[in-house]
Amino acid sequence: MRRSRPIPALITERRLRARTRAIGREIRRDHRGGDLVLVGVLRGSFIFMADLARSIDLPLACDFVKVSSYGSRTVSSGRVRIELDVSHPLRGKHVVLVEDIVDTGFTAEKVLGALRARRPASLRLCTLLHKPARGRVEVKIDYLGFTIPDRFVVGYGLDHGGLHRNLRYIGVLE
Ligand code: IMP
Ligand code: MG
Repeated sequence: MRRSRPIPALITERRLRARTRAIGREIRRDHRGGDLVLVGVLRGSFIFMADLARSIDLPLACDFVKVSSYGSRTVSSGRVRIELDVSHPLRGKHVVLVEDIVDTGFTAEKVLGALRARRPASLRLCTLLHKPARGRVEVKIDYLGFTIPDRFVVGYGLDHGGLHRNLRYIGVLE
């Protein structure tokens, strides 16, 4: 594939690294004792999750869910379906859901509801990015990387049409 113009940075690699490490310390502070499970939302969270997991100095398990939302691909329809579910039993565990971005909030709300039904000892939400301008449902974010303006962003796991996930920073597309 041919290279096109560079994508302007919104959040540099250096800021991503610093913030991810700080969140890792917060999660460690809140989870002394008990079994910790990180649950990443595929596919967007995979790079953040890999860095975050290595920033948490505690024994932990990693699991994943995959969701699909019906309707237009740039605007969440609110009808979110879980395509792939966690494989660990979560009952009695301390669970942190790891999202790439909370946009309308539909995805986080749906997945939190599904995880809560497994009766974890605690359930918290960690998201790298939050776009409050587009919030449609109220979700409580326990660990937040960055609040961003209402722009379409890619990189560090986030994609547009399947591409740009491997960009090392968060960039703004047009
Ligand atoms: P929701 O609207 O909060 O349910 O978010 C749905 C999903 O849309 C997120 O998990 C992302 O995968 C995707 N998404 C929302 N905004 C962006 C963006 O700016 N760039 C890339 N993906 C996005
Ligand atoms: Mg996503």
